Amino acid sequence: MAVERTRFAKRLFAGIASQYERMGVLLSFGQDARWRRFLVSRSNAVPGARVLDVAAGTQLVSRALAAGQNVHVVALDQSEPMLRAGGEPNRLAGLEEQIRPVLGHAERLPFGDGSFDAVSFTYLLRYVDDPPATVHELVRVLRVGGSIAMLEFSVPEAPLARLGWWIQTRVVMRLVGIAVSPAWARTTAFLGPSISRFVDDHPIEEWVRWFQAAGIRHVRTRSFLFGSAVVLWGVKS
Ligand SMILES: C[S@@+](CC[C@H](N)C(=O)[O-])C[C@H]1O[C@@H](n2cnc3c(N)ncnc32)[C@H](O)[C@@H]1O
Repeated sequence: MAVERTRFAKRLFAGIASQYERMGVLLSFGQDARWRRFLVSRSNAVPGARVLDVAAGTQLVSRALAAGQNVHVVALDQSEPMLRAGGEPNRLAGLEEQIRPVLGHAERLPFGDGSFDAVSFTYLLRYVDDPPATVHELVRVLRVGGSIAMLEFSVPEAPLARLGWWIQTRVVMRLVGIAVSPAWARTTAFLGPSISRFVDDHPIEEWVRWFQAAGIRHVRTRSFLFGSAVVLWGVKS
């Protein structure tokens, strides 16, 4: 399993768990909630559905999924501090009964084949060593006919938007991170280059192929904020 990246991500998120939700809003100009809503709209979270939310973190996506009537969400993450930080918001939203946090790794899910009606994952693939193998594992636990949807950052293609994105990720975010705490300074120094590297190594067409190779059909994508975020979704054949 991906020991090095797993360890790195664990250290990274342990330091920022308590401020994660507030900072996410600030760093994405309040756009991240919109992206998550779209992701949820592409998930098969119909009444009675059993949904797996991977890289759930503080469970922002899990709460949006569980807000549907009688939807039961398993929120899996490898970071105990991130899962714990979601406990109080879940309680305040009255969703404690519907969201079950599970500590675990996306690369080796502790569930049987076809256990879920829908699977979602957010900002995960940059933290795993073998993204296509991880996508396979995520698809394994999805039932035939179930939906899978992911949200990931990307890099705008248009030159002006790309320049704005670069200034935002390399300058603005960095300054905000430095002002907030050493842990946020480390996180914001990592984030922009991590997105650029991932997209250089694996263009979005490759993400689509990972889905298709894992048995997902009707794969669609939608870009947000000039291409700085992408939602990808499809159905298990
Ligand atoms: C940027 S956060 C996203 C949290 C949440 N989904 C959201 O939309 O705000 C990424 C999460 O992925 C988790 N993560 C990273 N690598 C993982 C892995 N291999 N297995 C499970 N979770 C992982 C981290 O612990 C972190 O909570």
